[in-house]
Amino acid sequence: MPVELERRDAVALVRLARPEVLNALSVEMLDEFQGVLDAIEHDGALRAVVVTGAGDRAFCAGADIGHMREAGALEARAFAQRGHDLTARIESFPRPVIAAVNGYALGGGCELALACDLRLAGERARFGLPEVNLGILPGWGGTQRLARVTTPGFAKEMILTGRMADAPEAHARGLVNHVHPPERLLDEALALAEVIAQKPAWAVTAAKEMVGLALDGDLRGHLARELDAFALAFTTEDQREGMAAFVEKRTPRFTGR
Ligand code: COA
Repeated sequence: MPVELERRDAVALVRLARPEVLNALSVEMLDEFQGVLDAIEHDGALRAVVVTGAGDRAFCAGADIGHMREAGALEARAFAQRGHDLTARIESFPRPVIAAVNGYALGGGCELALACDLRLAGERARFGLPEVNLGILPGWGGTQRLARVTTPGFAKEMILTGRMADAPEAHARGLVNHVHPPERLLDEALALAEVIAQKPAWAVTAAKEMVGLALDGDLRGHLARELDAFALAFTTEDQREGMAAFVEKRTPRFTGR
């Protein structure tokens, strides 16, 4: 199963498990993740969630580029909508969700982490929204959530250059709560989840929702615009070139068309 669920007392551990492609998220994984959240939501004994990636290289290297490569605007929009559905569900999930970022968190992987309530990083974690290198832009909420979690200036720098930030920089920018040695990351995340799991359920659920409102400011309206802008990128030659170059392991030649 590419999305695994393990119960650790009151904590649900969700692992993205397609390490051969750095846990890149396929349509099937997005659906499975939703199924795992259904199971957790209906299990009153599970009171906090930790999400991590299988293997020691990646949390998640983003949406599956193979799947998007030949997509037209409508297909791309439908795929992005599934990413929006998952990230929005995590954001409004009645239990707190902690991302244990054990390696690359790029594109959709970074956006997934941004939708979580807390983010812990391993010392080798690297964050980025490199979509611009593929001829597109972030399409799972990254344009909105990176700016809100950090600052608009940092978000623009990351999104317009597509560069990565290492764990210390991510910490300095407020993108992650804490950085831990890789071998301790998961235990630290589970321990933090366990602390929260012992708190009163209603207070935790309501507090999560209230803090979310502080950042809201028409998030939904802006996310809808992101979805359309993302889909439009798939009408350009630069999107075809950017994704072909990734698959062919070469530098893209963008023409502006
Ligand atoms: N979608 C599909 N496959 C992906 C992927 C993605 N988002 N990210 C990585 N992979 C695959 C690679 O194609 C490769 O598969 P292969 O072994 O069949 O060739 C495998 O995962 C390992 O990645 P590779 O690129 O060979 O590793 P690397 O160490 O040279 O580079 C990264 C690691 C993370 C820098 C690089 O994989 C990368 O840039 N990935 C894409 C990140 C991205 O743009 N995400 C946003 C998507 S919208």
